[in-house]
Amino acid sequence: MRDARIAVIGATGAVGAVTMRLLRERGHENVRAFASSRSAGTVLDGGIVVEEATPDALASAGVDLALFSVGTSASLELVPHAVRGGAVAVDKSSAYRLEPGVPLVVPEVNGPRAREHDGIVANPNCCTIPLTCVLGPLHEAAGLKRVRVATYQAVSGKGAQRLQQLLDEDPAEHDLSMDWSWDGDETDEESKIHAETRKILELPDLPISATTVRVPVPVGHAESIWVELEEPLSPEQATSILAAAPSVQLVDVPTPRASAQTDDVLVGRIRPDRASDGNGLALFLACDNLNKGAALNAIQIAELLLGDRVAA
Ligand SMILES: NC(=O)c1ccc[n+]([C@@H]2O[C@H](COP(=O)([O-])OP(=O)(O)OC[C@H]3O[C@@H](n4cnc5c(N)ncnc54)[C@H](OP(=O)(O)O)[C@@H]3O)[C@@H](O)[C@H]2O)c1
Repeated sequence: MRDARIAVIGATGAVGAVTMRLLRERGHENVRAFASSRSAGTVLDGGIVVEEATPDALASAGVDLALFSVGTSASLELVPHAVRGGAVAVDKSSAYRLEPGVPLVVPEVNGPRAREHDGIVANPNCCTIPLTCVLGPLHEAAGLKRVRVATYQAVSGKGAQRLQQLLDEDPAEHDLSMDWSWDGDETDEESKIHAETRKILELPDLPISATTVRVPVPVGHAESIWVELEEPLSPEQATSILAAAPSVQLVDVPTPRASAQTDDVLVGRIRPDRASDGNGLALFLACDNLNKGAALNAIQIAELLLGDRVAA
């Protein structure tokens, strides 16, 4: 599995840089890096030279897996060429996430769905990934009836350039924002959280409401979550369920900064929802948006598919 031929497209970006590091740390050695013509020729850590991601270069790259983090329009243009060349593409943009027939995968929640791909597996939104890592086990235990979520999202979620702007700003200028496109009276980030959560959990009618907020934090998204369950579930029971859940780490107070040093979803503040008249719980999470929220989740999908190939 470790000698699989892997291409990282978008290798110079915020997510791509983390992808390259994680692949190296996990022992993948046969890795090529691609980006746009702007950074073709750049030499990355480890001496890998960035190649230009043209349709022909991707179709003839001869790789097993192509990990894309280039944005929606570039993914729409380039992913089909990598697939034409025989690669399985794991795409981190929103281009294919809701396409029927394209699996949208969080390995801990619906990993087996990845095997149903027809060349493309989609990696969910950076808030949806940690949210479903928490909702999946709670649903299995007591049935989800309703979900409300408010997010506090780091600036690196907007990419490497926006992160640099934050670091260059006077802290007195820092503010909250809602810097997404609008989809009626919601941000498109809120729409993604609804639709992707329903698809991953296979609960197409799940009532779910989200408010997404950008905060002046470099790395690490946090989320306040209120769930109503079909069956009673005490905070103590929810705590022991989540303690056993893969990629979840219980802490007293999850923070973005603490999450940025782990591969896990940090979960805490598990308590009764005092505004609920049913089986309501409130909890809080934090997760590194560049790591488990993006790069690591995609690598775990890739490793799941490569593991199948080795076992076959
Ligand atoms: N940041 C996050 O927390 C996060 C989380 C989940 C998913 N995502 C998704 O991941 C993708 C990348 O996000 P990012 O934050 O890493 O953005 P970023 O820092 O702006 O990086 C974008 C990368 O894409 C490359 N690129 C852009 N247009 C290209 C093209 N036409 N052909 C080839 N390469 C191209 C850039 O290369 P150059 O150096 O040549 O410009 C750069 O390597 C987006 O779809 C985003 O929605 C991001």
